Amino acid sequence: MHRPGRSASHATFDDYAVDPDDEHPSRPSVPAALARATSELAEAGVESPRVDAELLAAHVLEIPRGRLLLADRMSAGELRRFEELVAERARRIPLQHLLGTAAFRHLELSVGDGVFIPRPETELLAGWGIDVCPPGAVVVDLCSGTGAIALAVADESKPASVYAVERSPAALSFLRRNAAGFPSVRVVAGDVTDPSLLSFLRDQVDVLLCNPPYVPDGTAVPPEVADHDPAAAVFGGPDGLSVIRPVVALAAGLLRSGGYIGIEHDDVHGEAVPLLLRADGRFTEVTAHLDLTGRPRFATARRR
Ligand SMILES: C[S@@+](CC[C@H](N)C(=O)[O-])C[C@H]1O[C@@H](n2cnc3c(N)ncnc32)[C@H](O)[C@@H]1O
Repeated sequence: MHRPGRSASHATFDDYAVDPDDEHPSRPSVPAALARATSELAEAGVESPRVDAELLAAHVLEIPRGRLLLADRMSAGELRRFEELVAERARRIPLQHLLGTAAFRHLELSVGDGVFIPRPETELLAGWGIDVCPPGAVVVDLCSGTGAIALAVADESKPASVYAVERSPAALSFLRRNAAGFPSVRVVAGDVTDPSLLSFLRDQVDVLLCNPPYVPDGTAVPPEVADHDPAAAVFGGPDGLSVIRPVVALAAGLLRSGGYIGIEHDDVHGEAVPLLLRADGRFTEVTAHLDLTGRPRFATARRR
């Protein structure tokens, strides 16, 4: 129960609804703590307040979210920690930074300051790459960030090798940590706009995937993105295509004949990116894909 005029950081146990038949009246119930946190997060403009409150509570209680229904009480220490995390989330610190991990397909990736948090919509591009990836393939993931796409492909298909390319030193340290259990993944520090990148793989790549920075400069983004995702991971130049253009040319040189390319893009680029792939002249089967909300999200093609 939220009492107007009292901030969550000053909550005490009697701020929580107490069941008269309760055997432990001095300890707040999990449902009451969740209800209060949900309303605090909703007031702060958090998009999914109940889900975030549940994930933070599960994190504090060190149980899977699905077991929260069975959880009864929080100790004083757990309540304090939960309230601190809820207050930070209300300040629009990304949920994944508070948890230290982000879920991506079947993986839990390490995330934090300096690395882009993988998004659910990118699971679609990764899934497409997994579907077209033949056993023993050579795969390239450009702009790898945490390694979400590269590691999902390594996890769910049987590639011979996956080259995960990233430029940012901060992102590279998360990428190396996340890739530690994946012997097929090779981390490469490099710039995807460099036409000589991975030149030893010329005409040999079976699948090339890329989720580059693509938001046009100056576009308004939510506080979680503006304050916590690195700008170099989000913004892709005046029209959002500054990284995609050189990536198309680089990919055409690296892919073998019949090899696959998939590039995620902004929803304003549903025509522009397929056009860039056609204009290059070295791709066929150019296809535009929508995300689960029906927005243009990625484009695919095959090397002639
Ligand atoms: C939108 S994030 C995608 C990260 C990851 N692939 C994912 O889907 O979660 C773009 C990533 O590209 C990296 N990046 C930006 N420009 C780059 C460049 N020129 N060369 C290599 N990496 C670059 C950023 O540091 C960031 O990690």
